Amino acid sequence: VKTIGILTSGGDAPGMNAAIRSVVRVAISKGLKVKGIMRGYAGLLEEEIVDMDSTSVSDIINRGGTILYTARCKEFTTAEGQQKGAEICRKHGIDGMVVIGGDGSFRGAGKLSALGINTIGLPGTIDLDIACTDYTIGFDTAVNTAMEAIDKIRDTSTSHERCSIVEVMGRNAGYIAMWCGIANGAEDILLPERYDGDEQALINRIIENRKRGKKHNIIVNAEGIGHSSSMAKRIEAATGIETRATILGHMQRGGTPTCKDRVYASIMGARAAILLSEGKSNRLVAYKHGEFVDYDIQEALNMVKDIPEEQYEVAKLLVR
Ligand code: F6P
Repeated sequence: VKTIGILTSGGDAPGMNAAIRSVVRVAISKGLKVKGIMRGYAGLLEEEIVDMDSTSVSDIINRGGTILYTARCKEFTTAEGQQKGAEICRKHGIDGMVVIGGDGSFRGAGKLSALGINTIGLPGTIDLDIACTDYTIGFDTAVNTAMEAIDKIRDTSTSHERCSIVEVMGRNAGYIAMWCGIANGAEDILLPERYDGDEQALINRIIENRKRGKKHNIIVNAEGIGHSSSMAKRIEAATGIETRATILGHMQRGGTPTCKDRVYASIMGARAAILLSEGKSNRLVAYKHGEFVDYDIQEALNMVKDIPEEQYEVAKLLVR
C-alpha cells in the first residue's frame, strides 16, 4: 500500500478528529501518502478527495465533529455503488482505506476490501452498539454530556417537585441510557433491550417514590423506546405529579471530546495506519477485555452484543 484514503461515515462522534489525526500522522511516519475523502462514501462517489499532510490535522484533537464531514450514503449499499467507489479509489491511486463509522459503514468497508482496496474500520459511534468492541469512539464524551445535562434537569425537577423523563440517544441500544441511569442516580431506567412495556408498574413506582418523600423522579428513557412526551402526559394524568419530558437529542453528539475519547481514538487510529502499512486488509480495530485488538470485518459483523448483565443488575439495584 502506497496511498491511503480516510473517511468518516454515518453519525459523527466526538473523537473522530483525534482518530483522523492519528491515522494521518502515523501513516505519514510509515512512508504512506494520505488523502482525505469528504462526506463519507457519498463524497467518494462524487470524488471529493483532498491531499492531506501532517499540518492538515493540526489543532483538531480537541474538536468535536469530523473535519472530513460525514454522510449516510444509500448508493454505496449497492453493488454498483461499491464497484464505482473501488474504481474511483484506483483512479486516485488509493490502494488503502480507513473507514471510521458504525456497522453500516463496515459493511461497505468489507465490500471495498473484497474489491481489492485494503480497508480497515475504526468504530466511531456514540451508541456503543458495535458488537466486537467494548469501546466506541465518542461514547465516553456523549455519556458525559448527557450526564451533565441530566444533573441540570434534576435541579429544576427537584425545585418543582416534578417527575422528569429524559430521553437519550442510542438508536436501538440502551448503553447511553444505562450509563446515565447509573451515573445520574435515576429513579428508573428504560432500556430497549429489557423494558417490558409495563407502564402501570412504572407509574406505581413513581407514586411509591412520592409517598416515600422523593422530591423528584428522574426516568432515563432510551431513544429505542422513545415516546417520552406522550409517556409524560400519561404519567401526569395517572399520578397527579407534574411531569416534563426532555429529549436531549443531537447535543449528545457534539462537544469537545473527553481525554479517554482522544487517547483511545489516537491509539485506534495508529493501529489502523500500522495495519495498512503491513499490507493488512478487511480488519476492524476494537477494544476487547482491556486490550486493543483487530478482527476480520465479517467475523466482527457476525458477533452479537447485549447489555452486560452485571451492569444491568447494578443499575436495577440502584434505582428507586
Ligand atoms: O448513531 C448515532 C445516532 O446519534 C443515534 O443515536 C441516533 O439514533 C441517530 O444517530 C440519529 O441520526 P441522525 O443524526 O441522522 O438524525
